Amino acid sequence: MGRKKANRGESLMTLYLKYRPTCLEDIVGNCSTVEALKSLSRMPLESLPHSYLFSGPTGCGKTTLARILAKNILQCSDFDFQELDVADFRGIETIRDIRRTMTLKPLKGKTRVWLLDECHKLTNDAQNAMLKALEDTPSHVYFILSTTEPNKLIPTIVNRCLRFQVHKLSRREMIKLLKRIAKLEYNSKIEIHLLSEIASTSEGSARKALTTLEKVMALNDPESMLKAIREEQFNENKSVIDLCRALYHPQANWENVRKVLLDLENEDHEKIRKAVLGYFANVLMSKHDMLAHLIIQLFKEPFYDSGFPGIVSACFEVFAQSKEVMKHDNSDVPY
Ligand SMILES: Nc1ncnc2c1ncn2[C@@H]1O[C@H](COP(=O)(O)OP(=O)(O)OP(=O)(O)O)[C@@H](O)[C@H]1O
Ligand SMILES: [Mg+2]
Repeated sequence: MGRKKANRGESLMTLYLKYRPTCLEDIVGNCSTVEALKSLSRMPLESLPHSYLFSGPTGCGKTTLARILAKNILQCSDFDFQELDVADFRGIETIRDIRRTMTLKPLKGKTRVWLLDECHKLTNDAQNAMLKALEDTPSHVYFILSTTEPNKLIPTIVNRCLRFQVHKLSRREMIKLLKRIAKLEYNSKIEIHLLSEIASTSEGSARKALTTLEKVMALNDPESMLKAIREEQFNENKSVIDLCRALYHPQANWENVRKVLLDLENEDHEKIRKAVLGYFANVLMSKHDMLAHLIIQLFKEPFYDSGFPGIVSACFEVFAQSKEVMKHDNSDVPY
């Protein structure tokens, strides 16, 4: 990846967009997918499959890889490349439009490509119509689907596609990416331990890591940078913090806890558990506090089998025991 000149427009551009890889060589991690795509790039265009599916967690390169596939491997021109965020066009009409227009020849070059991002949001009817499009694809048309939730796609769509599983970046890969961009963009004016801290809080999402890097680079000293990285993590977990506050409140009220739990129902329960532990570890580090100790005890083991109901039950236990515990302790609401 060469140094990108920061002209006026670019300097205002979000870092993760500015450094979105445009070739496979710049993709960090996801080696098996990159290798598989490289093999495709060595095959003649006519023998390439017509439908592809990228699945995996957010911010790890699905859209980026899909665009590289469309432009570099399927050789689609900008005129003939259509990218649709399905979240905004979930209905059958979207697919009917595609099927109506897909027979038209490309304006430039040999191929037309549709990238359907967040394709799991298509309604059931739209997915069935999509299946038909995948079945009678004209020879110049290619479809690339991308999703964080492949389980919400009808299996017949999944089976029609060449699948690529995109993975979170490991901590090492994330540090590599951050170092590379810190060098290009900021002349490496950030300490390596801060990059490592950003990598740890990024949950494997390159987008999240680069957004945090951009925010902290607006600050001057390493101490405020470290504080900003930690705050960033807390902001991400706002609903979990609301849960911690509801549990810690001197007049704990199950109705308040219940409301926050409803917001968290679809979150990863391990993420909730770790965030609760982090929050109350901070409380304990700042003072003697029996309630924080009780909460840590109740959340210290993963809820592998019980999942979200395990979290609800642990919260109820906190609520049920909190009055008793607080009789023996003088706790203030800490944050
Ligand atoms: N593997 C990677 N190597 C280098 N940069 C990456 C990688 N993955 C993501 N990025 C960076 O993160 C940004 C976001 O990636 P992308 O849009 O491809 O994620 P996504 O998987 O499609 O996420 P979502 O599910 O939220 O749509 C890119 O613009 C790029 O800067
Ligand atoms: Mg995407």
